[in-house]
Amino acid sequence: MAPKESHELRRGKYSKLDAPVEDESPTRPSFASDASSFEDLEEYDPLNYDAGTLKRKKSTGDLRTRKPSFKKDAEKFGGLGAPKRASSRTCGIRQWCCWLLIFVTSVILLFTAGGLWAYRNTMVKDGMSPPWYPTPKGGADPAWEESYKKAAAMVRQMTLVEKVNVTTGVGWSMGMCVGNTGPVRRLKFPSLCLQDGPLGIRFADNITAFPAGITVGATWNKELMYQRGKAHGQEARIKGVNVLLGPSMGPLGRMPAGGRNWEGFGTDPVLQGIAAARTIKGIQDAGVIATAKHFMLNEQEHFRQAWEWGLPNAISSNIDDRTLHEIYAWPFAESVRAGVGSVMCSYNQVNNSYACQNSKLMNGILKDELGFQGFIQSDWLAQRSGVAAALAGLDMSMPGDGLQWAKGESLWGPELTKAVLNGSIPIDRVDDMVTRIVAAWYQLGQDSWPLPPPDGDGGPNFSSWTNDEIGKIYEGSLSDDTKGVVNKFINAQGEGEDFHGNLVRKIAAEGTVLLKNEGHLLPLDRNGWKEHEKATKNSKFRVGIFGEDARLSRDGINNCPDQSCNDGTLASGWGSGAVQYPYLVDPLSALRKAFGNESVYLTDWPEDNLPKEKQIVEDQDLCIVFANAHAGEGYLKWSDVRGDRNDLNLQKNGDKLIQDVAKDCGKGKGDVVVVIHAVGPVILESFIDLPNVKAVLLANLPGQESGNALVDVLFGDVEPSGRLPYTIAKQEDDYGPGSKIKYLPSPVEGLSPQQNFSEGLYIDYRHFDKQDIAPRYEFGFGLSYTTFHLSSLLITSHGPKTPLPSPRPSNTISPPTYSTEVPDPKDALFPAGFHKVEKYIYPYLPSLPSLQKSPIQASQLQSPLSDAGGGPGGNPDLYTPLLTVSASLTNIGLVPGSAVVQLYISFPQNYKDPETGEPVDFPVRMLRGFEKVYVEAQQEGKTVRFEVSRKDLSYWDAGRGNWVMPIKGEFEISVGFSSRNLVLRGTW
Ligand code: BGC
Repeated sequence: MAPKESHELRRGKYSKLDAPVEDESPTRPSFASDASSFEDLEEYDPLNYDAGTLKRKKSTGDLRTRKPSFKKDAEKFGGLGAPKRASSRTCGIRQWCCWLLIFVTSVILLFTAGGLWAYRNTMVKDGMSPPWYPTPKGGADPAWEESYKKAAAMVRQMTLVEKVNVTTGVGWSMGMCVGNTGPVRRLKFPSLCLQDGPLGIRFADNITAFPAGITVGATWNKELMYQRGKAHGQEARIKGVNVLLGPSMGPLGRMPAGGRNWEGFGTDPVLQGIAAARTIKGIQDAGVIATAKHFMLNEQEHFRQAWEWGLPNAISSNIDDRTLHEIYAWPFAESVRAGVGSVMCSYNQVNNSYACQNSKLMNGILKDELGFQGFIQSDWLAQRSGVAAALAGLDMSMPGDGLQWAKGESLWGPELTKAVLNGSIPIDRVDDMVTRIVAAWYQLGQDSWPLPPPDGDGGPNFSSWTNDEIGKIYEGSLSDDTKGVVNKFINAQGEGEDFHGNLVRKIAAEGTVLLKNEGHLLPLDRNGWKEHEKATKNSKFRVGIFGEDARLSRDGINNCPDQSCNDGTLASGWGSGAVQYPYLVDPLSALRKAFGNESVYLTDWPEDNLPKEKQIVEDQDLCIVFANAHAGEGYLKWSDVRGDRNDLNLQKNGDKLIQDVAKDCGKGKGDVVVVIHAVGPVILESFIDLPNVKAVLLANLPGQESGNALVDVLFGDVEPSGRLPYTIAKQEDDYGPGSKIKYLPSPVEGLSPQQNFSEGLYIDYRHFDKQDIAPRYEFGFGLSYTTFHLSSLLITSHGPKTPLPSPRPSNTISPPTYSTEVPDPKDALFPAGFHKVEKYIYPYLPSLPSLQKSPIQASQLQSPLSDAGGGPGGNPDLYTPLLTVSASLTNIGLVPGSAVVQLYISFPQNYKDPETGEPVDFPVRMLRGFEKVYVEAQQEGKTVRFEVSRKDLSYWDAGRGNWVMPIKGEFEISVGFSSRNLVLRGTW
């Protein structure tokens, strides 16, 4: 087999403007020659220099939607299964063909030259992200001590190629899962299976389609957050998944139209952080490594990834240090505190350095300041460089392929082996990568799992690529047809009481937000007329159900790749975060079952346009109308929605349908209930104030038990306790200029779109509060069927205010040490007679590399350690409780229910930094805690308690590089039922 062409070689060739023709010379420049010099590292972060910049041709259509049943759609979407184009005929046959070819080539060359010119003249040359080197080594946290000891004992026995094998995926679709690492069979370290996440096991059978993150966020129920994580983790365990690719906490929701906001838990760092931490605990209590993703600032889909949007570079999210710490890094800090085993770096650039080679983010913030002990894996093809990514702190390359999908050409694999041998990457960096991975495996007790065949019967027991029992072992290889049992169809959904569908139903019901309920229309009565109406009504109660969102898709519930079409009821967003439904209970069937047909006459028109004949609407006492808004990941599109939504309106004629139904329901006298399934905020203004639109329910994305959960709330079996995890504005512009998706790069940015997070801390409710804009429904809002009352605020201080936390504690234990001797290159060669599977990524070298020494001597670099570090999630003193806040909760209504009691803190007003005298601006208020509390009807005085930490009372001072507490002035502590319904206030 011909040796694989390295990316570095291609780079050399394509970068020569005057020599665009491919040179078949087998000589490769050394890997080291791609890295910028050591001096450069000190000046700026080593971004982009081998980032697949202008030299790469556009990657082929995205290959991420798999399973043969999707092949037809995949063709439509340019995915796998798309027929190869017929090759063009030779011009010898027809002369004009030659001319056409010359013309087309000239046009392409002209455009390319123009593109290159634009690139050269507009590309940001040096990163603005400060350097942070070297990578802090894992193994300094007592909570991981045992795992690191065991890991070190194993890693010490590994050869270089074995180490590299563990760090690099074997290539897209070369194993059963979406990501598969190389094994070290000799030492019984298996190939790890990495699978999406975050709402179920993707590409698998007999699994659960849980409610999406946004629905879980809307429950504000910490116990349910944990239970969903645990059930998800158990399913992963049963299916043989080592690393679950979730939860998602970035995007955080800066832009309400962001395509993937629904995968996370809501637009606030504290809500997002608590939900993420609970989910991680749940997943990891089931023995599966959780992944906190996407680190970080991947807030929109447009331009998230190099080449996916036709540009050679991904968008750069440009952010200041304070906003980064106080908003976007916060949930990751909580994840590290929760002991997360893995973090996934994101596609985008941050301050013009790719997140997966950004040393400030990975080395500085995650590994030093937040004390992360697990491993950082790249998002799929988010790695854009070999040496730079390794030195900046990346530990695992996923799925192994480098700059292009499914080519089998890695930026690591053999290139990492070579980079160690020629000194570009110190061997202790690779040792640290492997140790982190193996330590996470031990930490979760996965050494007790059975090994995959041929050493045992463990490993993944499903295939991401086929639904058949027997399938290809190396799906991605065209030449290797080895087959075996790939699907064992093991049921992972839980049984009896533990059937996960029950949990789905509970979460979906608790995650449903009651936005409007005029005249207590809800809860409905199963028998139609309410008690007090019965005496005057002697006809059946007539109910009409409208809107396509009430029924199932007629083409089947799994008819679109990764749920990427809006067809029938919406219960999930689309993309890698979606799963195939095992079943889906649609609202229409559930409502039909729920209403008693003795006394209720139910009609349906589950379409988005009403028939001309209005009778079907006019002849109703109650109309229930459904509408939705869908979005998802940017490699797929539905209609003209390419990931991010184009606006915040209901889709598929939703607004008009609701208005039409409201106009004619019961000839204007019927009551209307609106039910919305949505990926994020939708503008409700066109119907919210219509007098007969009495009730509006936001059911978010409920998962497989959609209809049942809705019925539970509609009929009052479950008292609505969902609260908004974001603000619903009256108009899109109210979210502020920073909330807009960048749909087009501006000409001055050229080929590297820039997005400045200039609004700083002021996203969602913080923006509305600062600008004093009245939202339609504020963050944290939601109605109940009962009424709660809060009283007796008590604030207990545990000590005086001091500006800084205690000094960073020194490590009590040291990371493992290894021999720093560079191994013999001969040991890195392919073993004699080795059978290579085409496109499979191996760590071996085909021939001895030239061992020209690299000018990089990374060991000489030492960035100062952060004062804010020293423990999981940062300096332990940041988490010292400084206040206890309590209040007394009473249910004064007639039905039992759960209140979501929320704690907000306002920092001192007109505050000036005592050292610089500069004013420091603070949001009007910030969520700092919440508790969901169940109270029986008419029960008094249940105590709700919050612990407030130093970090909760501090801001990030970029100058000092630490969390600082204002000691002058007063904090206002508010407790209430939403960000704008704060009934108790006190000061400290
Ligand atoms: C997504 C990740 C996902 C990965 C693997 C990427 O496109 O951004 O969230 O985990 O694919 O499917």
